[in-house]
Amino acid sequence: DKFLIPGAIDVHVHFRDPGAPEKEDWATGSAAALAGGVTMVLDMPNTNPATITVEALEAKHAIARAKSQTHYGLFFGATRDNLDEIRRAENIVGIKIYMGSSTGNLLLDDPAVWEEVFKIAKEKNVPVVVHAETESMIQAGKRDCECAKVATEAAIALREKVGNRLHIAHVSCKLELDLIRAHKCPELTCEVTPHHLLFTADDTKDAFLKMNPPLRSQADQDALWEGLRDGTIDCIATDHAPHTKEEKLRPFAEAPAGVPGIEFMLPLMLNAVNEGKLTLEKLVALTSENPARIFGLHVMGWSLVDMNLEKIIQISDIRSKFGWSPYLGRTIKGWPAQVWL
Ligand code: DOR
Ligand code: ZN
Repeated sequence: DKFLIPGAIDVHVHFRDPGAPEKEDWATGSAAALAGGVTMVLDMPNTNPATITVEALEAKHAIARAKSQTHYGLFFGATRDNLDEIRRAENIVGIKIYMGSSTGNLLLDDPAVWEEVFKIAKEKNVPVVVHAETESMIQAGKRDCECAKVATEAAIALREKVGNRLHIAHVSCKLELDLIRAHKCPELTCEVTPHHLLFTADDTKDAFLKMNPPLRSQADQDALWEGLRDGTIDCIATDHAPHTKEEKLRPFAEAPAGVPGIEFMLPLMLNAVNEGKLTLEKLVALTSENPARIFGLHVMGWSLVDMNLEKIIQISDIRSKFGWSPYLGRTIKGWPAQVWL
């Protein structure tokens, strides 16, 4: 009942280093990753300073090289005036565009600049990763599925014009999935988070489940599981976004958006395998094979997973710095027993 599977690659983490050591850093984030069977992480650029200059990129590489217990790759952020920096950037796994605003100040909502970034990505042969929400609708208080769909539609149309590779981050709605399915090709890929697969909007009681994009309806969640099975969705990625308990206890409107997930992504999904929601082979494709192909990586490391081990997720399990998880108290069957790098 134990299976040796390739190490998972989490293509979407926020390790907050440099900039917010009270939330997480490369040492604690990567320790949590490794404990959860994740042997490689790709870190997002909304750190402080943001990864939008070659200098900041090199500084982050130096920190990660010194502190990370896992293999890693770094994304470069796009802004309206850093196109030359993007052109010069080497040793990146992709370029991130925040089409709508989220944590940090990397908003880029100008379609003319999107097109320039898509062209540069094509020349560099790296994917563009988009946070696809529509800024005008966010500002109008409408962070709904239409808000996600309009941005996704614009990104897909631009990709078809330019011919680059495009990866849609944290797909959360049926409307988005239907669009992606209709335009699916090797150059158009996407990911889903564990939290959108396991919670719905009805679970949002306080800011601990506040994130962008927000939790959706049961029908949307059902569509995400279907998208995993039929190949529309390529990866499961956490969007591991640590914030402190103190910040999350603030009134909903003032609390920062984002939930952690890296330590329990694989156990949660092994549990789903045990429940018959997907096969182990499919899970390995979603967490290792497809991420490696999309971002041009080697799968490095292995996990020996015990499909019969049953354990409750507890605070004492948490290796991340901030000490909470939206999954506390869940009984999970299926855990990595040993992990090799
Ligand atoms: O909820 C989120 N938190 N969504 C994002 O896009 C960013 C992330 C963060 O960095 O906290
Ligand atoms: Zn993110």
